[in-house]
Parts: sequence; structure tokens; C-alpha cells
Amino acid sequence: EDYQAIVLDEVDSTNSEAERRIANGECTPFVVLSRLQTVGRGRLGREWHSPQNGNLYSSFAFRPQISPSQMSLFTLWMGINICECINSLCQVSCKIKWPNDLHIDGKKVAGILTEARMEADIVLNVVLGLGLNVNSDGADWPAELKEIATSLSQSSGRTFDINKLVSTLTGRIAIAYKKLLDGSHRTELKERWSRYDTLNGKEITLLQGESRISGTANGIDSNGSLIIERPDGTRYLARAGEVTIEKK
Ligand code: BTN
Repeated sequence: EDYQAIVLDEVDSTNSEAERRIANGECTPFVVLSRLQTVGRGRLGREWHSPQNGNLYSSFAFRPQISPSQMSLFTLWMGINICECINSLCQVSCKIKWPNDLHIDGKKVAGILTEARMEADIVLNVVLGLGLNVNSDGADWPAELKEIATSLSQSSGRTFDINKLVSTLTGRIAIAYKKLLDGSHRTELKERWSRYDTLNGKEITLLQGESRISGTANGIDSNGSLIIERPDGTRYLARAGEVTIEKK
């Protein structure tokens, strides 16, 4: 599968660049890569620290013609494929924290930010942004980041060829995208997810705006919602939110 690759030295955000190119009528799918971002974005309005340090800042652009209700499955499915691809290529053990953070030994190694433009009942385009910490030694990271983040090289003691990583990831994402369009991800997602699910069986708290829901995480349902078993025996299905694991 040929995904056109746009390689930049510097950009505000690869997601923004991909969105501008879509708006200009560029053919999808394509991928935007940059060595650094001046305004890297994270989920929930956060910043994504993006200096030039051997890390990967990438955005994949699609026009999938799916309904808005399929968007959360889209993100989870791409996330699990990215997780598996990194594990087999780099010989690490990445796990996935719902909805789409990748962790190694409990520290975050990658984040995914999907942004979609919708009209009425159809998704017009989707940009899947992947920030993956590859060769950074963490020296340039603020102290609070060092506590919670890692890179492939910090966790394995090796350095990685970022071009090879990008081409392998792109091939894997192309296959995953095809499977999504033909619907075969529906039967595969749950089982593959459960193999890498960091939250499974843990006591967690879900933050949704002002409300908090606590209980035991029990995998995902067929829509990609996080299943939380509450102490009173009821079950809560979370479509969105931020999860913290309760320390014992
Ligand atoms: C998260 O908050 O975990 C998601 C982080 C996503 C960061 C990536 S880096 C490439 C792409 N461009 C952006 O501005 N953000 C995403």
C-alpha cells in the first residue's frame, strides 16, 4: 500500500498540517512526519512536548466514510495495531491503556490523538496523530514528564532506526485500515485488546468532566466502551474519559 509521506523539519502540529492538506483537497491516505513540532497537541487540550530529540511526530490522514458512532472503535483498533507492531518490531512489551495510550512498564511511551471532521451522519475525514517516544534519553524532559514517561530506547537500552519504524508502522496501519473498512476488525478487536490491556482487573477511577466513577476495569465492549464493574454490582460503560489506576 502506498501512503504518500510528507516529511518536514518543523511544523506547528502534524495533525494541523494534515488537516490543512485535507482541506486543500490532497488525496488520502497520506502521512505527515516532522522532526519537531512547535505546538504539539495532546488529548484534552494538553500540550505534547515535541522538541527535536529523535522521537516520532506523525499524523495519518483518511477519508473513511464511517458513521460518527464508529469513531471510538476506529481509534482503539488503530491503537492496538500500533501497539502490536511496535512490540514485534522493537522487541519491547508495550501495553495499551484505554482509550489509547501506550505504556511500557507503567510509563507512557506513546499517545494517539484522533481528530475527525463530521457532517450530519458521516465522518468526512480523520487524522490520527501518533506521538511515539523513540530515541529520546529524557534529558530534555521536564521533571514531571520523567516520572511518567519513557521512550523505546530508555526502556530497552537500544536505539532504533526511525525510518524503518515509520515504514513498518505505515504498512501495518494500511492493513489495519483495510480491515476496518471491510468490517473484520469487529471480530478481532476484543481478543487482541485483552492481550495488551493494562487496566484489566485493576481498581480504577474514571474522570468524566466533574464526575468520577470507581470500580474494577473489565475490558471493552463491542463499541469500544470501557467496562467498569462497580462495587454495588452495577456495570458502567464509559464512552470517554480519563482513567487513573488506584494504587494499593
Ligand atoms: C495524548 O495526549 O496522549 C495524545 C498525544 C498525541 C501527540 C501526537 S504527536 C503527532 C500529532 N500531532 C500533534 O499535534 N499531536 C499528535
